[in-house]
Amino acid sequence: MLNALSMRRTAQFGDEGDEHQEDGSKTRKQLSIATRVTNYLTRTGYLWPILFLAIVIFVIYSLFIRSRNLVCVSSISSFDRLSRTRFFGLDGLESDFGSLGVPWCRSKHGKTIEWTSKDLLQGLEEFVPIYETRPIKNNMYGMGFDHSFGLWFITRWLKPELMIESGAFKGHSTWILRQAMPDTPIISLSPRHPAKYLLKGPAYVDQNCTYFAGKDFVDFGNVNWSKVMKKHGVNDSSRVLIFFDDHQNELKRLKQALKAGFSHLVFEDNYDTGTGDHYSLRQICDQFYIQGGGHSCFKDSDEARQRRKRKQFWEKAVDINDLCGPHEAWWGVKGYMRDDFNHTNKQISHTQHFQNSRFVESILDVYWELPPVAGPSLTQQTRYDPARVSNPIVEDGRFGLFQRLGLSRLEETVFNGYTQMVYVKISLNEM
Ligand SMILES: *[C@@H]1O[C@H](CO)[C@@H](O)[C@H](O)[C@H]1NC(C)=O
Ligand SMILES: *[C@@H]1O[C@H](CO)[C@@H](O)[C@H](O)[C@H]1NC(C)=O
Ligand SMILES: *[C@@H]1O[C@H](CO)[C@@H](O)[C@H](O)[C@H]1NC(C)=O
Ligand SMILES: *[C@@H]1O[C@H](CO)[C@@H](O)[C@H](O)[C@H]1NC(C)=O
Repeated sequence: MLNALSMRRTAQFGDEGDEHQEDGSKTRKQLSIATRVTNYLTRTGYLWPILFLAIVIFVIYSLFIRSRNLVCVSSISSFDRLSRTRFFGLDGLESDFGSLGVPWCRSKHGKTIEWTSKDLLQGLEEFVPIYETRPIKNNMYGMGFDHSFGLWFITRWLKPELMIESGAFKGHSTWILRQAMPDTPIISLSPRHPAKYLLKGPAYVDQNCTYFAGKDFVDFGNVNWSKVMKKHGVNDSSRVLIFFDDHQNELKRLKQALKAGFSHLVFEDNYDTGTGDHYSLRQICDQFYIQGGGHSCFKDSDEARQRRKRKQFWEKAVDINDLCGPHEAWWGVKGYMRDDFNHTNKQISHTQHFQNSRFVESILDVYWELPPVAGPSLTQQTRYDPARVSNPIVEDGRFGLFQRLGLSRLEETVFNGYTQMVYVKISLNEM
């Protein structure tokens, strides 16, 4: 899906002045000639010339990569960045994304989202100046740029009649929802009222938002939603958008939302298998029958070796030891279904885990993980491992585009919070 989209994207934005992009295509040309020569030699049976040629090409390519780094020394300055690029060499810049597989949840009828990469790019251009006016500049432990954009974009696209958020923290997400829909009511559920944070520093309290917070807090699963919706004059639950940033078991939330008749949901923290403080959709759909899903705890496997290497470079990468618990349990987090900020942990069997994914698939109309906004050579992010993530909206090397969209104006730290935010559309199983 994303490949088809990226073709459309190139057509729209053009590549004038995007030197890195041109560099990229030159490299590809070089390589394809090399491939042809190698093929010819293989056919004619010259083994040594092939090896010699391979070494020459490798040396030329290494020099090429190095000189490119020197040219870009102002934008790629940290030692980490250089060593990472050198280490991954050929694959490091472009084809690294998704190299360890990107699990996803199958929908009932194979439907997907209506928006394209072009829409996302246009959205980015519009959103950057809005983001720059955010009241909470340093939203540590809260959403960064990628997810803020994702929430804003999805909300604006769906144009709900009512927005509900579960988990507001200092109110940054409330502010994002408000920017997307200036006149639409918001209901915010949070154990601590965002106004509390105002005493200590920046926070956002919305004037047209109903807060179930502080002493009025009610858990999402305990709200009489038909009553609350009626009070807000909304009678179509399919026109409501729910945003979950409450670190609860997402299977539990999915069932509660389904019971209340809601269909459009966004989960902020869609943690990868082996990470995070709650059972996520990404974890649920990490199954052997999905590409990139299912794992082996065998220490000498390709996956184990790749993961070991990547852990040195990306803070959130997990190796096979982090992934596997006793009895080779890898699903969820080491065989546990975490809930409620990791305050509750329940061990589940592989069979239960498998059945959970079948249930999710049976109610799923659409599953879409927001791609990261830009590749790490542009954003300088060091946390998420691109190997488990789909291609970014602005690919590595496209500094011209990155700059044109205004993304180079933002501080680097805002790009560090990506955790595969996901939009899902659900409906009752027809059976
Ligand atoms: C609240 O929303 C209504 C329309 O939905 C609008 O007329 C009013 O000005 C808003 N109030 C504030 C304080 O934003
Ligand atoms: C929810 O509220 C409505 C009144 O608006 C009431 O009829 C219904 O029984 C309530 N549901 C529950 C589960 O309490
Ligand atoms: C409820 O929705 C229907 C259409 O689905 C509409 O005709 C009706 O006016 C709505 N009622 C209220 C009270 O908004
Ligand atoms: C989560 O909870 C488990 C069991 O209580 C504990 O062993 C683990 O260290 C916790 N992890 C995190 C990241 O809090």
